[in-house]
Amino acid sequence: MRPLRVAIFASGTGSNALALINKAQTLSGALEISFVLSDKAMAPVLKKAQEMSVRTYLVEKKLDRHNHEQEILKLLREHRIDWIFLAGYMRLLSGSFLRQFSSWHEGASQIVNIHPSLLPAYPGAEAIARAHQDRASQTGVTVHFVDEGMDTGEIIIQEALNLPSEAPLSDWVDAIHRLEHRMYSNFLESLSLGKPRTFYFEENP
Ligand code: GRF
Repeated sequence: MRPLRVAIFASGTGSNALALINKAQTLSGALEISFVLSDKAMAPVLKKAQEMSVRTYLVEKKLDRHNHEQEILKLLREHRIDWIFLAGYMRLLSGSFLRQFSSWHEGASQIVNIHPSLLPAYPGAEAIARAHQDRASQTGVTVHFVDEGMDTGEIIIQEALNLPSEAPLSDWVDAIHRLEHRMYSNFLESLSLGKPRTFYFEENP
């Protein structure tokens, strides 16, 4: 069986992307991070991935969303990507993009995202800051399948954290990011062990 091929999409700092790249390197060839893609030229994740010898692509926002997504689909097809991990990717994917990608995998949805809250609480941007502001009694992290909505896809794993409401926001951010890195890299590892099952890239004739 060939290694699973994973693409990471990220728009920002890239700490989750880095955690995934580090984990992939320990998986003795069962899985490879084929590339990191960003829509932002200035995203620090691009440099970080290059320093780890991972190929990067920049596909900047276009006026036409369809053309933008077609360019990305071309890369996914060229690299025969099995799974996409969104890691701070600040764009929604269209229904036609999702359908095209799943058509290469027997209809399976093999795109996942990580979000720093216990969804459905606090979807969207600034989730940690909003929970902190509300002095939420419990927070956490969610890994979920991606659909057309904002952080609305089917939940795969959630872990809760009880953080003291009097702690500064920076403590919350650090604790939640640590949990994210652990959960996302554990999920990557479980894929390499066949859970959930991967439908390998297969382009229909
Ligand atoms: C993470 O909190 C992730 O959950 C959210 O965006 C943030 C990205 O952080 N979707 P980083 O770029 O991985 O450091």
